[in-house]
Amino acid sequence: MNLLLTEPPRARSGMKVVRARDELRALLASERAAGRTIGLVPTMGFLHDGHLSLLRAARADCDVVVMSLFVNPTQFGPGEDLERYPRDEERDAELAAEQGVDLIYAPAVEEVYPTGFSTEVGVRGLSEVLCGDPERRGPDHFRGVTTVVAKLLNTVGPDVAYFGQKDAQQVAVIRRMVRDLDFPVRIEALPTVREPDGLAMSSRNSYLDAEERRRATALSRALCRAEQTARVSSLADGLKAARDELAAAGIEPEYLEARDPESLEEVRQLDERPVLIAVAARVGGARLIDNFVLQPTKTPASG
Ligand code: PAJ
Repeated sequence: MNLLLTEPPRARSGMKVVRARDELRALLASERAAGRTIGLVPTMGFLHDGHLSLLRAARADCDVVVMSLFVNPTQFGPGEDLERYPRDEERDAELAAEQGVDLIYAPAVEEVYPTGFSTEVGVRGLSEVLCGDPERRGPDHFRGVTTVVAKLLNTVGPDVAYFGQKDAQQVAVIRRMVRDLDFPVRIEALPTVREPDGLAMSSRNSYLDAEERRRATALSRALCRAEQTARVSSLADGLKAARDELAAAGIEPEYLEARDPESLEEVRQLDERPVLIAVAARVGGARLIDNFVLQPTKTPASG
């Protein structure tokens, strides 16, 4: 290809906020017709550096970057934090513009779920373990996620969609949905972005008071201990060391488990396959999750 014939970079100052699905479709149809690639970053807003890392990746890979901003009610259970979920659209729009986002899709709830809406997309099995265990958030949570992500993929029609490994189960469920339902999209999963003290960034960290914020660092410490101990001893000892670390901070995990990162089947022993070590715990008013993928044959990642 003759590089001199390629178009100059597009002006990035004109970020647009679109609320109507049909307007978004029309805008993207002309981009696609012009041969431009589209990247989608789905979010529920209240952006932090974890979200921004996804936007940066999309900006580097794709011609047109779409960020969706939608606090999806169907993935919150009764008694969960839908009402108090933090929101700041103005700040989100500024941060997105700084990252070179071209279009923000920020629909109202009725735009996504009009009266009479009655279709659900669900992934059996993967949605019923860990966070999807009926005793925890339950499979309805992931049904809400897969339904809204399926709609976003259909509305935007991206070449690539970006997700964070912080929500490892969400990535596994979405990859399976995309494979099973033949969505013509590539799913990119990016590493967890952390605070300097190791806490995985999350919009929900804003629920923590100072003392809870300190205790919350036990989650990432527990994962580090699990990794170190598992390498020199066994996976069972690694999980026990992690449990001890959490207990020292007064944290009783909802779960702390070793699973296959793709099938989410339980893993009991380290062999040559990667192992997902996932934890969820309530710290004060926040339900926090974190995970680490142990790569037995490679040098440990610090993430
Ligand atoms: P939200 O929690 O806003 O997260 C949006 C995306 O950012 C997800 O892919 C999530 O995994 C990623 N992310 C969050 N914290 C991160 C961190 N510390 N490092 C890297 N990536 C991080 O996840 C959702 O929204 C929703 O379920 C959604 C997919 C938008 C569907 O409603």
